[in-house]
Amino acid sequence: MKKESIYVVFSTQKDRAGKTTLTAPTTPRLYYERDYNVAIIDYDFRN
Ligand SMILES: Nc1ncnc2c1ncn2[C@@H]1O[C@H](COP(=O)(O)OP(=O)(O)O)[C@@H](O)[C@H]1O
Ligand SMILES: [Mg+2]
Repeated sequence: MKKESIYVVFSTQKDRAGKTTLTAPTTPRLYYERDYNVAIIDYDFRN
């Protein structure tokens, strides 16, 4: 069943804050438990 797109953002310019650590377990839960198709964009801000 196609679901409406949602955007989940963990965002801060602070390094080592837990963005990736939080993203890693959230993604499979959205896919396997909530039936969303998932795309991950995980990056760090650089000048
Ligand atoms: N498997 C792990 N065991 C212990 N500490 C970890 C582990 N993975 C990440 N960390 C620590 O958790 C903090 C957050 O890391 P991370 O999620 O990579 O931050 P960010 O993505 O915001 O830069 C860091 O201090 C990192 O060293
Ligand atoms: Mg990260």
